[in-house]
Amino acid sequence: MSDSHSDSLVFFGATGDLAYKMIFPALQAMVKNGHLDTPVIGVANAGWSVEKLRERARDSVEKNGGLDQAAFEKLSGLMRYVDGDYKDPATFQTLRKELGSAQWPAHYLAIPPVLFGLVVEQLGKSGCAAGGRVVVEKPFGRDLESARNLNRILLATFPEPSIFRIDHYLGKLPVKNLVYFRFANSFIDPFWNRNSVESVQITMAENFGVQGRGAFYDQTGAIRDVVQNHLFQILANLAMEPPARNDSESVRNEKVKVLQAIPPVDAKNVCRGQFRGYRSEKGVGQDSKVETFAALRLEINSWRWQGVPFYLRAGKCLPVTSTEVLVRFRRPPEIFSSAGEAFSNYMRLRISPDVVDALGMMVLAPRRETMGELTELVASHHPSADEMDAYERLLADAMAGDPTEFAREDYVEEAWRIVDPILKAGTEIYEYEPGTWGPDEVDRRVLPAGGWHNPVVAPAAPEGVLQPAGG
Ligand code: BG6
Repeated sequence: MSDSHSDSLVFFGATGDLAYKMIFPALQAMVKNGHLDTPVIGVANAGWSVEKLRERARDSVEKNGGLDQAAFEKLSGLMRYVDGDYKDPATFQTLRKELGSAQWPAHYLAIPPVLFGLVVEQLGKSGCAAGGRVVVEKPFGRDLESARNLNRILLATFPEPSIFRIDHYLGKLPVKNLVYFRFANSFIDPFWNRNSVESVQITMAENFGVQGRGAFYDQTGAIRDVVQNHLFQILANLAMEPPARNDSESVRNEKVKVLQAIPPVDAKNVCRGQFRGYRSEKGVGQDSKVETFAALRLEINSWRWQGVPFYLRAGKCLPVTSTEVLVRFRRPPEIFSSAGEAFSNYMRLRISPDVVDALGMMVLAPRRETMGELTELVASHHPSADEMDAYERLLADAMAGDPTEFAREDYVEEAWRIVDPILKAGTEIYEYEPGTWGPDEVDRRVLPAGGWHNPVVAPAAPEGVLQPAGG
């Protein structure tokens, strides 16, 4: 691998859905912010021309975030297109020609994982892989065995430092902030451990269903789609030790160590649910047993965390769309018997839709003298998480050769090891009504002491209504 900045960006699957929804807007933003001025070569097998690709790119940015005339024109000028079958070596010879004098191309595979092997092999044979990097999308395998196979395929052509496995949650600023917040503040560490923390909850709630992705989702389910990757990344950031140095491998070593300390999840610590109506979605089997909701409990058997349960929950068609962490602290000894209901202190770290770092604490309620009430000290609150889009940040990092925010081979395999037994166990699936917090059985099977914390999302203010400052 070379440490050099990539001098061209090739993206396979240029005519696909991911390109349309995420990649073109990210590319426009990269151009706008000075992160992209190399040729961008789209590859697909659709009988398109570069003009057609430009039209599609324009439509994509108009529908997903807005057109920036100057940046888009520049991007259009950088765009090239190679059309052809991935099975045909001629496609890759054309690509090699199109790459011209580029020595360090970044190849982004925005294609289904079943095609990774074929494309990577062709990149190798045609000489397009030489000096290059490969960027792959999740899902990275569907269990431990398939992830190992995929890793073998990639490693046959690219060395590990040249492989960038995308998990777009790692490109989100508030997810990065979990690590920053913990280690840039001296007051947090003394209570960030088993002595003070009672439990940790991570909830990723979405108030929509599978949005036309039924065929994909029915092969995947919530555990594979978001728990094994997005929620585990949040977990690793919350639980990792401070890295020895702030370089990519020191940071990634600490994340892997968190996963190494987690035993495989036991089927009795899982509750899977499916929203009513899922089986009538296009592409979904009529007797599908795929989960659209999962709640699970796991343990981290490390010096810092042993005995502290971590609860992870994700679901479609829940009441709100929000990803939030709740770190619940142990109760103090009871002195104030008349203080009303006692709450645990907590740290609430909201990743989306807005970004909040808050500390929950008890204070005496005004005018009620002996009664306590829960109040929140809000350390920071940004109205939205969308400073730099996750894809923009990650593609820019991959082109710059910085692997910090990408999943390393050993990390991905450890993550599958943890969920593999519950993927295979085929545990009961419970139906739930859309718009609820999952099936009732959750509270019987996987219930944190003190109950689940359900993120609250304020309805959007009607246009023209001013919001109070900081609110
Ligand atoms: C994707 C999943 O990886 O993440 C989707 O495949 C999910 O099912 C999406 O909706 C959520 O991402 P975000 O950034 O909107 O929270």
